Amino acid sequence: MSAAVFSSTVTRVEDGALAVGGVDVRELAGQYGTPLYVIDEQDMRARAAAFRDHFAAAFGRHGAEVDVFYASKAFLSSKVARWMRAEDLCLDVASLGELELALRGGMPAARIGLHGNNKSDAELRRALEVGVGRIIVDSFTEIETLDAIAREMGAVAPVLVRVTTGVHAGGHEYIATSHEDQKFGLSLASGAAFQALVACHDAAGIRLNGIHTHIGSQILSLAAFEESAERMLGLRATLHAEYGIELPEVDLGGGYAIRYTPHGEALSAHDAAQGMAEAVAAAMAKVGGTWPRFSIEPGRAIAGPAGMTLYRVGVVKHVALEDGGQRQYVAVDGGMSDNMRTITYGAEYTATIASRLSDAEPELSRVVGKHCESGDIVVRDVELPHDIARGDLLAVPATGAYGRVMAHNYNAALRPAVVSVRDGESTVHIRRDTLEDLFSWDVAPD
Ligand code: LLP
Repeated sequence: MSAAVFSSTVTRVEDGALAVGGVDVRELAGQYGTPLYVIDEQDMRARAAAFRDHFAAAFGRHGAEVDVFYASKAFLSSKVARWMRAEDLCLDVASLGELELALRGGMPAARIGLHGNNKSDAELRRALEVGVGRIIVDSFTEIETLDAIAREMGAVAPVLVRVTTGVHAGGHEYIATSHEDQKFGLSLASGAAFQALVACHDAAGIRLNGIHTHIGSQILSLAAFEESAERMLGLRATLHAEYGIELPEVDLGGGYAIRYTPHGEALSAHDAAQGMAEAVAAAMAKVGGTWPRFSIEPGRAIAGPAGMTLYRVGVVKHVALEDGGQRQYVAVDGGMSDNMRTITYGAEYTATIASRLSDAEPELSRVVGKHCESGDIVVRDVELPHDIARGDLLAVPATGAYGRVMAHNYNAALRPAVVSVRDGESTVHIRRDTLEDLFSWDVAPD
Protein backbone atom coordinates (compact mmCIF):
# COMPACT_ATOMS: atom_id res chain seq x y z
CA MET A 1 0.00 0.00 0.00
CA SER A 2 1.29 3.47 -0.87
CA ALA A 3 0.99 4.88 2.63
CA ALA A 4 2.42 8.24 1.55
CA VAL A 5 -0.46 8.83 -0.85
CA PHE A 6 -3.39 7.73 1.29
CA SER A 7 -5.01 10.04 3.86
CA SER A 8 -3.74 9.94 7.41
CA THR A 9 -6.27 7.57 9.02
CA VAL A 10 -6.01 4.84 6.38
CA THR A 11 -4.88 1.49 7.82
CA ARG A 12 -5.03 -2.19 6.94
CA VAL A 13 -7.34 -4.13 9.26
CA GLU A 14 -6.41 -7.61 10.46
CA ASP A 15 -7.43 -9.57 7.39
CA GLY A 16 -5.74 -7.05 5.08
CA ALA A 17 -8.64 -4.87 3.95
CA LEU A 18 -8.34 -1.08 4.12
CA ALA A 19 -10.09 1.01 6.71
CA VAL A 20 -10.42 4.79 6.66
CA GLY A 21 -11.68 6.96 9.49
CA GLY A 22 -12.13 3.74 11.45
CA VAL A 23 -14.53 2.26 8.86
CA ASP A 24 -13.77 -0.87 6.83
CA VAL A 25 -13.99 -0.05 3.11
CA ARG A 26 -15.96 -3.28 2.48
CA GLU A 27 -18.63 -1.94 4.79
CA LEU A 28 -18.66 1.40 2.95
CA ALA A 29 -18.91 -0.30 -0.44
CA GLY A 30 -21.70 -2.53 0.85
CA GLN A 31 -23.67 0.31 2.34
CA TYR A 32 -23.29 2.95 -0.37
CA GLY A 33 -22.31 1.00 -3.48
CA THR A 34 -19.40 1.67 -5.81
CA PRO A 35 -17.85 3.73 -7.24
CA LEU A 36 -17.75 5.74 -4.05
CA TYR A 37 -15.80 8.83 -3.06
CA VAL A 38 -14.68 8.68 0.56
CA ILE A 39 -13.45 11.78 2.41
CA ASP A 40 -11.33 11.37 5.51
CA GLU A 41 -12.79 14.17 7.63
CA GLN A 42 -9.98 14.31 10.14
CA ASP A 43 -7.39 14.51 7.38
CA MET A 44 -9.17 17.21 5.37
CA ARG A 45 -9.80 19.40 8.40
CA ALA A 46 -6.21 18.95 9.57
CA ARG A 47 -4.99 20.18 6.16
CA ALA A 48 -7.26 23.22 6.38
CA ALA A 49 -5.96 23.92 9.88
CA ALA A 50 -2.35 23.46 8.75
CA PHE A 51 -2.70 26.20 6.10
CA ARG A 52 -4.39 28.45 8.65
CA ASP A 53 -1.72 27.89 11.32
CA HIS A 54 1.44 27.81 9.21
CA PHE A 55 0.52 30.97 7.31
CA ALA A 56 -0.61 32.73 10.50
CA ALA A 57 2.73 31.86 12.13
CA ALA A 58 5.00 32.73 9.17
CA PHE A 59 3.29 36.02 8.31
CA GLY A 60 2.58 36.76 11.98
CA ARG A 61 6.33 37.02 12.59
CA HIS A 62 6.14 40.19 10.48
CA GLY A 63 2.98 41.41 12.19
CA ALA A 64 0.84 40.52 9.16
CA GLU A 65 -2.42 38.61 9.01
CA VAL A 66 -3.53 35.98 6.49
CA ASP A 67 -6.99 34.67 5.66
CA VAL A 68 -7.20 31.21 4.13
CA PHE A 69 -9.97 30.88 1.55
CA TYR A 70 -10.71 27.24 0.74
CA ALA A 71 -11.18 27.08 -3.06
CA SER A 72 -14.47 25.23 -3.04
CA LYS A 73 -14.31 24.26 -6.73
CA ALA A 74 -11.98 21.45 -5.58
CA PHE A 75 -14.88 19.87 -3.71
CA LEU A 76 -17.93 21.42 -2.11
CA SER A 77 -20.87 20.16 -0.15
CA SER A 78 -22.81 22.14 2.42
CA LYS A 79 -21.18 19.94 5.07
CA VAL A 80 -17.70 20.84 3.83
CA ALA A 81 -18.66 24.53 3.98
CA ARG A 82 -19.64 23.89 7.59
CA TRP A 83 -16.26 22.25 8.33
CA MET A 84 -14.38 25.17 6.80
CA ARG A 85 -16.35 27.60 8.89
CA ALA A 86 -15.57 25.57 12.01
CA GLU A 87 -11.87 25.63 11.09
CA ASP A 88 -12.04 29.43 10.78
CA LEU A 89 -11.42 29.43 7.05
CA CYS A 90 -13.12 31.58 4.44
CA LEU A 91 -14.50 30.19 1.17
CA ASP A 92 -13.93 30.92 -2.49
CA VAL A 93 -16.83 30.30 -4.83
CA ALA A 94 -16.90 30.65 -8.60
CA SER A 95 -20.58 30.32 -9.50
CA LEU A 96 -24.08 30.87 -8.18
CA GLY A 97 -24.29 27.16 -7.34
CA GLU A 98 -21.14 27.20 -5.22
CA LEU A 99 -22.29 30.40 -3.54
CA GLU A 100 -25.64 28.86 -2.59
CA LEU A 101 -24.02 25.66 -1.28
CA ALA A 102 -21.63 27.73 0.83
CA LEU A 103 -24.51 29.72 2.31
CA ARG A 104 -26.49 26.51 2.86
CA GLY A 105 -23.60 25.19 4.92
CA GLY A 106 -23.72 28.31 7.06
CA MET A 107 -20.59 30.05 5.78
CA PRO A 108 -21.12 33.74 6.61
CA ALA A 109 -21.41 35.76 3.38
CA ALA A 110 -18.79 38.18 4.65
CA ARG A 111 -16.26 35.29 4.54
CA ILE A 112 -17.07 34.36 0.94
CA GLY A 113 -15.18 35.57 -2.15
CA LEU A 114 -16.86 35.36 -5.56
CA HIS A 115 -14.67 34.51 -8.56
CA GLY A 116 -15.30 33.95 -12.25
CA ASN A 117 -14.15 35.35 -15.59
CA ASN A 118 -17.71 35.72 -16.89
CA LYS A 119 -20.06 36.26 -13.97
CA SER A 120 -23.70 36.69 -14.86
CA ASP A 121 -25.81 39.64 -13.72
CA ALA A 122 -27.72 37.19 -11.52
CA GLU A 123 -24.49 36.06 -9.83
CA LEU A 124 -23.35 39.63 -9.20
CA ARG A 125 -26.78 40.63 -7.87
CA ARG A 126 -27.01 37.65 -5.54
CA ALA A 127 -23.48 38.30 -4.24
CA LEU A 128 -24.41 41.90 -3.40
CA GLU A 129 -27.77 40.92 -1.97
CA VAL A 130 -26.27 38.45 0.52
CA GLY A 131 -23.25 40.69 1.18
CA VAL A 132 -20.25 38.62 0.11
CA GLY A 133 -16.96 39.86 1.51
CA ARG A 134 -15.27 40.25 -1.85
CA ILE A 135 -15.95 40.07 -5.54
CA ILE A 136 -12.84 39.40 -7.58
CA VAL A 137 -13.35 41.31 -10.84
CA ASP A 138 -11.80 39.90 -13.97
CA SER A 139 -12.49 42.38 -16.82
CA PHE A 140 -13.44 45.95 -17.69
CA THR A 141 -16.87 44.68 -18.76
CA GLU A 142 -17.40 43.27 -15.29
CA ILE A 143 -16.24 46.46 -13.58
CA GLU A 144 -18.83 48.48 -15.55
CA THR A 145 -21.59 45.93 -15.02
CA LEU A 146 -20.92 45.50 -11.33
CA ASP A 147 -20.72 49.25 -10.76
CA ALA A 148 -24.10 49.75 -12.48
CA ILE A 149 -25.80 46.87 -10.60
CA ALA A 150 -24.42 48.01 -7.25
CA ARG A 151 -25.54 51.61 -7.76
CA GLU A 152 -28.98 50.46 -8.85
CA MET A 153 -29.22 48.33 -5.69
CA GLY A 154 -27.93 51.14 -3.50
CA ALA A 155 -24.96 48.93 -2.56
CA VAL A 156 -21.20 49.31 -2.71
CA ALA A 157 -19.35 46.24 -4.02
CA PRO A 158 -16.17 45.25 -2.15
CA VAL A 159 -13.72 44.39 -4.93
CA LEU A 160 -10.33 42.85 -5.60
CA VAL A 161 -8.92 43.09 -9.13
CA ARG A 162 -7.59 39.84 -10.59
CA VAL A 163 -4.11 40.44 -11.90
CA THR A 164 -2.25 38.33 -14.45
CA THR A 165 1.33 38.60 -13.26
CA GLY A 166 2.93 36.81 -16.20
CA VAL A 167 4.41 34.09 -13.99
CA HIS A 168 4.02 30.84 -15.87
CA ALA A 169 3.47 27.91 -13.54
CA GLY A 170 1.31 24.86 -13.17
CA GLY A 171 1.16 21.18 -13.86
CA HIS A 172 -0.54 21.33 -17.26
CA GLU A 173 -1.33 24.05 -19.81
CA TYR A 174 -5.03 23.92 -18.91
CA ILE A 175 -4.37 24.63 -15.25
CA ALA A 176 -1.77 27.41 -15.60
CA THR A 177 -3.56 30.72 -15.23
CA SER A 178 -1.22 33.65 -15.04
CA HIS A 179 0.68 33.66 -18.32
CA GLU A 180 -0.45 36.29 -20.84
CA ASP A 181 -2.29 34.33 -23.53
CA GLN A 182 -5.31 32.97 -21.63
CA LYS A 183 -8.71 34.14 -20.52
CA PHE A 184 -8.22 35.03 -16.85
CA GLY A 185 -7.47 38.36 -15.22
CA LEU A 186 -6.05 41.69 -16.27
CA SER A 187 -2.47 41.87 -17.40
CA LEU A 188 0.17 43.53 -15.29
CA ALA A 189 2.62 43.85 -18.17
CA SER A 190 0.21 45.57 -20.58
CA GLY A 191 -1.00 48.07 -17.98
CA ALA A 192 -4.56 46.69 -18.05
CA ALA A 193 -4.40 45.73 -14.36
CA PHE A 194 -3.35 49.24 -13.41
CA GLN A 195 -6.13 50.80 -15.49
CA ALA A 196 -8.66 48.44 -13.92
CA LEU A 197 -7.54 49.50 -10.45
CA VAL A 198 -8.03 53.14 -11.34
CA ALA A 199 -11.43 52.36 -12.91
CA CYS A 200 -12.54 50.56 -9.72
CA HIS A 201 -11.26 53.39 -7.57
CA ASP A 202 -13.29 55.89 -9.59
CA ALA A 203 -16.51 53.83 -9.66
CA ALA A 204 -19.14 55.00 -7.16
CA GLY A 205 -20.61 51.50 -6.83
CA ILE A 206 -17.28 49.88 -6.03
CA ARG A 207 -14.98 49.91 -3.02
CA LEU A 208 -11.53 48.91 -4.21
CA ASN A 209 -10.01 46.73 -1.49
CA GLY A 210 -7.13 45.04 -3.21
CA ILE A 211 -5.55 42.83 -5.79
CA HIS A 212 -5.69 39.11 -6.43
CA THR A 213 -3.64 36.65 -8.45
CA HIS A 214 -3.73 32.91 -8.99
CA ILE A 215 -0.84 31.59 -11.02
CA GLY A 216 -2.05 28.05 -11.64
CA SER A 217 -2.54 24.66 -10.11
CA GLN A 218 -0.44 21.69 -8.96
CA ILE A 219 2.60 23.99 -8.61
CA LEU A 220 5.72 22.65 -6.89
CA SER A 221 7.94 25.65 -7.46
CA LEU A 222 8.07 27.94 -4.47
CA ALA A 223 10.02 30.36 -6.66
CA ALA A 224 6.93 30.89 -8.85
CA PHE A 225 4.83 31.91 -5.84
CA GLU A 226 7.61 34.19 -4.60
CA GLU A 227 7.99 35.87 -7.98
CA SER A 228 4.27 36.48 -8.27
CA ALA A 229 4.08 37.90 -4.72
CA GLU A 230 6.91 40.33 -5.55
CA ARG A 231 5.19 41.49 -8.72
CA MET A 232 1.91 41.99 -6.88
CA LEU A 233 3.54 44.09 -4.17
CA GLY A 234 5.35 46.08 -6.84
CA LEU A 235 2.02 46.88 -8.49
CA ARG A 236 0.52 47.88 -5.15
CA ALA A 237 3.48 50.18 -4.50
CA THR A 238 3.17 51.81 -7.93
CA LEU A 239 -0.51 52.53 -7.34
CA HIS A 240 0.39 54.07 -4.01
CA ALA A 241 3.17 56.20 -5.48
CA GLU A 242 1.15 57.44 -8.46
CA TYR A 243 -2.36 57.76 -7.02
CA GLY A 244 -1.88 57.79 -3.25
CA ILE A 245 -4.04 54.64 -2.99
CA GLU A 246 -2.66 52.04 -0.58
CA LEU A 247 -4.60 48.83 -1.08
CA PRO A 248 -5.50 47.04 2.18
CA GLU A 249 -5.69 43.48 0.76
CA VAL A 250 -3.52 41.20 -1.39
CA ASP A 251 -4.63 37.69 -2.35
CA LEU A 252 -1.90 35.35 -3.59
CA GLY A 253 -4.18 32.54 -4.83
CA GLY A 254 -3.91 28.78 -4.52
CA GLY A 255 -2.25 26.05 -6.54
CA TYR A 256 -0.06 24.14 -4.03
CA ALA A 257 0.90 20.75 -5.43
CA ILE A 258 -0.09 17.46 -3.83
CA ARG A 259 1.31 13.95 -4.15
CA TYR A 260 -0.74 11.67 -6.41
CA THR A 261 1.65 8.71 -6.61
CA PRO A 262 4.36 7.31 -4.33
CA HIS A 263 7.06 8.99 -6.44
CA GLY A 264 5.17 12.31 -6.71
CA GLU A 265 6.05 15.45 -4.75
CA ALA A 266 4.03 17.99 -2.78
CA LEU A 267 4.52 21.60 -1.68
CA SER A 268 3.67 21.54 2.02
CA ALA A 269 1.70 24.25 3.80
CA HIS A 270 4.70 24.75 6.06
CA ASP A 271 7.19 25.30 3.22
CA ALA A 272 4.79 27.46 1.23
CA ALA A 273 4.12 29.65 4.26
CA GLN A 274 7.79 30.08 5.11
CA GLY A 275 8.87 30.82 1.56
CA MET A 276 6.06 33.21 0.77
CA ALA A 277 6.37 35.12 4.06
CA GLU A 278 10.08 35.64 3.40
CA ALA A 279 9.49 36.73 -0.19
CA VAL A 280 6.79 39.14 0.91
CA ALA A 281 8.99 40.55 3.68
CA ALA A 282 11.84 41.11 1.22
CA ALA A 283 9.51 42.78 -1.28
CA MET A 284 7.97 45.02 1.40
CA ALA A 285 11.43 46.04 2.57
CA LYS A 286 12.22 47.07 -0.99
CA VAL A 287 9.02 48.98 -1.84
CA GLY A 288 8.15 50.31 1.63
CA GLY A 289 4.69 51.27 2.90
CA THR A 290 2.37 49.51 5.33
CA TRP A 291 1.72 45.78 5.02
CA PRO A 292 -1.59 44.71 3.51
CA ARG A 293 -3.71 41.89 4.88
CA PHE A 294 -2.92 38.77 2.84
CA SER A 295 -5.03 35.86 1.72
CA ILE A 296 -4.42 32.55 -0.03
CA GLU A 297 -6.77 30.09 -1.76
CA PRO A 298 -5.72 26.44 -1.53
CA GLY A 299 -8.27 23.96 -2.89
CA ARG A 300 -6.54 20.77 -4.02
CA ALA A 301 -4.07 20.77 -1.12
CA ILE A 302 -6.93 20.67 1.39
CA ALA A 303 -9.38 18.31 -0.34
CA GLY A 304 -7.22 16.18 -2.65
CA PRO A 305 -5.18 13.96 -0.34
CA ALA A 306 -8.15 13.52 2.02
CA GLY A 307 -10.24 11.69 -0.56
CA MET A 308 -10.11 8.30 -2.25
CA THR A 309 -12.31 6.52 -4.75
CA LEU A 310 -13.46 2.95 -4.17
CA TYR A 311 -14.27 0.88 -7.24
CA ARG A 312 -15.43 -2.69 -7.74
CA VAL A 313 -13.30 -4.68 -10.18
CA GLY A 314 -15.21 -6.26 -13.06
CA VAL A 315 -13.35 -7.61 -16.08
CA VAL A 316 -9.61 -8.41 -16.00
CA LYS A 317 -7.83 -8.92 -19.33
CA HIS A 318 -4.25 -9.68 -20.27
CA VAL A 319 -3.08 -7.89 -23.39
CA ALA A 320 0.15 -8.66 -25.25
CA LEU A 321 2.42 -5.67 -25.79
CA GLU A 322 4.57 -5.05 -28.86
CA ASP A 323 7.77 -5.43 -26.86
CA GLY A 324 6.84 -8.97 -25.91
CA GLY A 325 5.57 -8.09 -22.44
CA GLN A 326 1.98 -7.98 -21.33
CA ARG A 327 -0.31 -5.62 -19.51
CA GLN A 328 -3.13 -6.45 -17.17
CA TYR A 329 -6.24 -4.37 -17.91
CA VAL A 330 -8.38 -4.03 -14.81
CA ALA A 331 -11.82 -2.64 -15.63
CA VAL A 332 -13.71 -0.97 -12.79
CA ASP A 333 -17.34 0.10 -12.44
CA GLY A 334 -16.65 3.82 -13.04
CA GLY A 335 -14.01 5.61 -15.11
CA MET A 336 -13.87 8.94 -16.91
CA SER A 337 -17.34 9.84 -15.59
CA ASP A 338 -15.98 10.01 -12.03
CA ASN A 339 -12.35 10.91 -12.77
CA MET A 340 -11.84 13.31 -15.66
CA ARG A 341 -8.30 14.21 -14.63
CA THR A 342 -6.46 11.33 -16.29
CA ILE A 343 -7.99 11.84 -19.73
CA THR A 344 -7.93 15.64 -19.47
CA TYR A 345 -4.50 16.39 -18.03
CA GLY A 346 -2.70 13.09 -18.33
CA ALA A 347 -2.83 13.02 -14.52
CA GLU A 348 -1.09 10.18 -12.72
CA TYR A 349 -2.66 8.12 -9.98
CA THR A 350 -1.92 4.92 -8.14
CA ALA A 351 -4.22 2.12 -6.99
CA THR A 352 -4.28 -0.79 -4.57
CA ILE A 353 -6.56 -3.74 -3.84
CA ALA A 354 -8.63 -2.52 -0.90
CA SER A 355 -10.68 -5.55 0.13
CA ARG A 356 -7.81 -7.95 0.89
CA LEU A 357 -4.06 -8.44 0.81
CA SER A 358 -2.49 -10.33 -2.04
CA ASP A 359 0.93 -11.93 -2.26
CA ALA A 360 0.54 -12.77 -5.94
CA GLU A 361 3.22 -11.49 -8.35
CA PRO A 362 2.74 -7.82 -9.24
CA GLU A 363 2.06 -7.16 -12.90
CA LEU A 364 2.15 -4.02 -15.01
CA SER A 365 -1.49 -2.93 -15.04
CA ARG A 366 -3.84 -0.26 -16.29
CA VAL A 367 -7.04 0.61 -14.47
CA VAL A 368 -9.74 1.45 -16.98
CA GLY A 369 -13.40 2.37 -16.74
CA LYS A 370 -16.56 1.08 -18.41
CA HIS A 371 -17.11 3.91 -20.90
CA CYS A 372 -17.07 3.66 -24.67
CA GLU A 373 -13.63 5.24 -25.23
CA SER A 374 -10.14 3.80 -25.22
CA GLY A 375 -8.99 6.95 -23.36
CA ASP A 376 -11.26 5.99 -20.48
CA ILE A 377 -8.33 5.38 -18.14
CA VAL A 378 -8.24 5.93 -14.39
CA VAL A 379 -4.65 4.85 -13.69
CA ARG A 380 -2.34 4.59 -16.69
CA ASP A 381 0.49 2.54 -15.15
CA VAL A 382 0.45 0.71 -11.85
CA GLU A 383 1.67 -2.62 -10.53
CA LEU A 384 -1.25 -4.74 -9.36
CA PRO A 385 -1.15 -8.36 -8.22
CA HIS A 386 -1.71 -10.99 -10.87
CA ASP A 387 -4.62 -12.53 -8.96
CA ILE A 388 -6.79 -9.39 -8.93
CA ALA A 389 -10.26 -10.55 -9.89
CA ARG A 390 -13.88 -9.66 -10.38
CA GLY A 391 -15.42 -8.60 -7.08
CA ASP A 392 -12.24 -7.14 -5.54
CA LEU A 393 -12.42 -3.57 -4.29
CA LEU A 394 -9.83 -1.19 -5.69
CA ALA A 395 -8.89 2.08 -3.98
CA VAL A 396 -7.48 5.07 -5.86
CA PRO A 397 -6.09 7.65 -3.42
CA ALA A 398 -5.83 11.44 -3.75
CA THR A 399 -9.11 11.89 -5.61
CA GLY A 400 -10.66 14.31 -3.12
CA ALA A 401 -10.14 17.37 -5.34
CA TYR A 402 -11.60 17.85 -8.83
CA GLY A 403 -13.16 14.38 -8.71
CA ARG A 404 -16.87 14.45 -7.91
CA VAL A 405 -17.11 18.12 -8.91
CA MET A 406 -15.98 17.24 -12.45
CA ALA A 407 -18.02 14.03 -12.67
CA HIS A 408 -20.60 13.70 -15.42
CA ASN A 409 -23.22 11.40 -16.82
CA TYR A 410 -21.54 10.12 -20.00
CA ASN A 411 -23.16 6.88 -21.15
CA ALA A 412 -25.97 7.83 -18.74
CA ALA A 413 -23.64 6.93 -15.88
CA LEU A 414 -25.00 7.45 -12.40
CA ARG A 415 -22.56 9.72 -10.58
CA PRO A 416 -21.17 8.21 -7.36
CA ALA A 417 -22.04 9.25 -3.83
CA VAL A 418 -19.62 11.16 -1.59
CA VAL A 419 -19.39 10.11 2.04
CA SER A 420 -17.11 11.28 4.80
CA VAL A 421 -15.77 9.05 7.55
CA ARG A 422 -14.55 9.80 11.04
CA ASP A 423 -14.15 7.81 14.26
CA GLY A 424 -15.93 4.76 12.88
CA GLU A 425 -18.92 6.68 11.49
CA SER A 426 -19.83 7.56 7.91
CA THR A 427 -21.92 10.51 6.71
CA VAL A 428 -23.42 11.14 3.27
CA HIS A 429 -22.50 14.46 1.64
CA ILE A 430 -23.85 13.78 -1.83
CA ARG A 431 -26.06 10.80 -2.57
CA ARG A 432 -25.56 8.63 -5.63
CA ASP A 433 -27.52 9.52 -8.78
CA THR A 434 -30.41 7.15 -9.38
CA LEU A 435 -32.28 6.04 -12.48
CA GLU A 436 -35.12 8.22 -11.20
CA ASP A 437 -32.73 11.19 -11.40
CA LEU A 438 -31.96 10.35 -15.02
CA PHE A 439 -35.65 10.04 -15.80
CA SER A 440 -36.38 13.33 -14.07
CA TRP A 441 -33.95 15.12 -16.41
CA ASP A 442 -35.25 13.33 -19.47
CA VAL A 443 -38.54 14.67 -20.77
CA ALA A 444 -40.36 11.53 -21.86
CA PRO A 445 -42.34 11.32 -25.10
CA ASP A 446 -46.13 11.74 -24.73
N1 LLP B 1 -8.08 30.27 -6.72
C1 LLP B 1 -8.51 30.42 -7.99
C2 LLP B 1 -8.85 31.74 -8.47
C3 LLP B 1 -8.57 29.31 -8.83
O1 LLP B 1 -8.99 29.47 -10.07
C4 LLP B 1 -8.23 28.03 -8.33
C5 LLP B 1 -8.30 26.86 -9.19
C6 LLP B 1 -7.82 27.93 -7.00
C7 LLP B 1 -7.74 29.07 -6.22
C8 LLP B 1 -7.44 26.62 -6.36
O2 LLP B 1 -6.39 25.98 -6.96
P1 LLP B 1 -5.80 24.67 -6.27
O3 LLP B 1 -5.21 25.07 -4.93
O4 LLP B 1 -6.94 23.74 -6.08
O5 LLP B 1 -4.81 24.13 -7.21
N2 LLP B 1 -9.53 20.90 -12.64
C9 LLP B 1 -8.11 21.12 -12.50
C10 LLP B 1 -7.79 22.28 -11.59
C11 LLP B 1 -8.43 23.56 -12.01
C12 LLP B 1 -8.13 24.64 -11.02
C13 LLP B 1 -8.91 25.85 -11.31
N3 LLP B 1 -8.69 26.90 -10.39
C14 LLP B 1 -7.46 19.83 -12.00
O6 LLP B 1 -8.17 18.87 -11.79
O7 LLP B 1 -6.24 19.77 -11.83
